[in-house]
Formats: sequence, structure tokens, C-alpha cells
Amino acid sequence: MLHILKLGNPVLGQQCAPVTEFNEELKKTVEGMFEAMEKADGVGLAAPQVGIPKRFFVIEIKDEVRRAFINPQIVQTSMDEVMMEEGCLSVPGVYREVKRPRQVTVQAQDVEGRPFTVTADGLYGRCIQHEYDHLNGVLFIDHLDEVEKEQAVKLFKRKNRFGRNK
Ligand code: CO
Repeated sequence: MLHILKLGNPVLGQQCAPVTEFNEELKKTVEGMFEAMEKADGVGLAAPQVGIPKRFFVIEIKDEVRRAFINPQIVQTSMDEVMMEEGCLSVPGVYREVKRPRQVTVQAQDVEGRPFTVTADGLYGRCIQHEYDHLNGVLFIDHLDEVEKEQAVKLFKRKNRFGRNK
């Protein structure tokens, strides 16, 4: 089982490198990430969250999508922005409203290296943007203002002391 890194781990702040090899190892890692995400009851998980500073993530929303995004690029975002509550498996116990574009279009590759394009809004569109941020070392709490972020970090520390979520 892959271990999900928590806030404070330096890998979460890293700029991730493109995936260049579409091999068995990548497929295994992707399947492992789906497993770890399902077990943790999440809807998205990015490679750096399991200690791999590479550009890919997985998303699974029941009855809607189960997909790996390798080397994703957000190619278009809507002009209008919406507030939506977010959480993160790397910041367990913390949920905050974040403002982002309502809709995004992303180009990516599947585990075989085949390109695809997705346009999504709602929870799916929000997940894509949240996971994409992870590949650039950005967490959802980085979108909050300084005071709100400090409060969120404090809450995280309080909820995760004694290593309960390790
Ligand atoms: Co996250």
C-alpha cells in the first residue's frame, strides 16, 4: 500500500517532472494510487502525495469518472469563478472554500501514452484543478489568504498531532 504524505513533507512543495516512460511501473503505481485513494475515501490523488515528484494524478468520482491523467496541461479555463469547499488527503481534517474557475479543459495522456482531452465543471472540474496544482507544489490552502492559511495549518497540526494520520 502506498503511503500518503502529509503537509510539511517537502515533496509536496516540489515542481514535478514530466513522465517520459509509459511502462509497467507507471501502471502499477497508478493502480496503487487508486487503491490508496479509495481506502482513504478521497476523489483525487497526485503522484507527489505518494512521494513521486512526477506529473500525474488519478481521479475517481463515483458514477462519473475513474481516470489517470499523465502529463496534464490545463489548456483553457472559464472566465467565471466559483467557490467550492475543498479538502486534501495530505491535509486531513481541514476543509475550506476556495475560489477557482468554474470549468477547465485539460489535455493529458493515459497510462499507455495516448492523448485525450477533457472539459469538466462541478466536482470533476474542481478535482482536476486541485490535483494539477499538486504537480506544481501547490496545495489548496495556498489559495487562502495569509491569515486563513495560518489558521488552516494550525487546525491541521491540532488534528494530526500524535501522528494519528501517519
Ligand atoms: Co490534494
